[in-house]
Amino acid sequence: METVKISPSLLSADWMNLEQELKNLSAWGADMVHCDVIDGLFAPNITFGMPMISALKRKSKLPLDVHLMIVKPERYIDKFIAAGSDTIAFHPEASDKPLEVLDKIRKSGIKAGIAINPDISASVVKQYLDNIDYILLMGVFPGFGGQKFIPEVMDKIDECKKYTVGRNIYIELDGGVTVENIGEMKRRGLNAAVAGNAVFAAADPAGAVKMLKA
Ligand code: DX5
Ligand code: ZN
Repeated sequence: METVKISPSLLSADWMNLEQELKNLSAWGADMVHCDVIDGLFAPNITFGMPMISALKRKSKLPLDVHLMIVKPERYIDKFIAAGSDTIAFHPEASDKPLEVLDKIRKSGIKAGIAINPDISASVVKQYLDNIDYILLMGVFPGFGGQKFIPEVMDKIDECKKYTVGRNIYIELDGGVTVENIGEMKRRGLNAAVAGNAVFAAADPAGAVKMLKA
C-alpha cells in the first residue's frame, strides 16, 4: 500500500501563531498545508482569502493545498493562482464555468481539483476527468473542522478509483479523517487526506501525523 499524503487543515490551527504552526507542520512531517477558503455563502462560515494565501506562501516550506468553498470561483481564480496556491480545488456546482476555471488553474502550472460534497454523486467527476489532477472527496459538509465522518462517503473512494483507472488523478479525502478511520480509506486506495482536528487537537501532533501516514 502506498503511503497517504497528509494535508493538515489550518482551520484547526492557532491563528494567532500561524508562522509557528507552519514550522510545526514541516517538523511534524506533513506533506501539504490545507487552506480552507470559505465565503459565508457556499458554506456557513467565513475564513480568509487571497491575502492570507500570499502571506502563508511567504513562510510555508510545504505546498499550499487550497480548497475554495466560494460561490463563482471564476471571479477570483486568477488571484488565488497569483497568491501562490500549489493546488486548487473548488465545488463545480458553485461555478458557471467549471471547465474554464480548471483550465486556468492547469495552464498556470498548478494542480486542479474538483470537490464533491457528501450529498453529490461522485459520478459528476466523470465529465472532468480530462481536466483534473485530483478529486477532493468531502467526508463532511463544508464549513467547520472537527465534524464526524459520514460513513457513506467511504464507497465513493472505490467509485472514484474506478473512474480514474489509468489516469494520473489522485484522490484526497477532506473532513472527519481520524487515526481510526484512515486505515480503511487507505485500503480502498486513498492517496491523500486532509486532517484538521486529528492533527491539531492531538496531544502529540507529530505522532498523529506519523500514525495517519503509517
Ligand atoms: C470543512 C473543511 C475541512 C476541515 C477538515 O469545511 O473543508 O478541510 O477543516 O477538518 P477535520 O479534519 O477536523 O474534519
Ligand atoms: Zn477543506
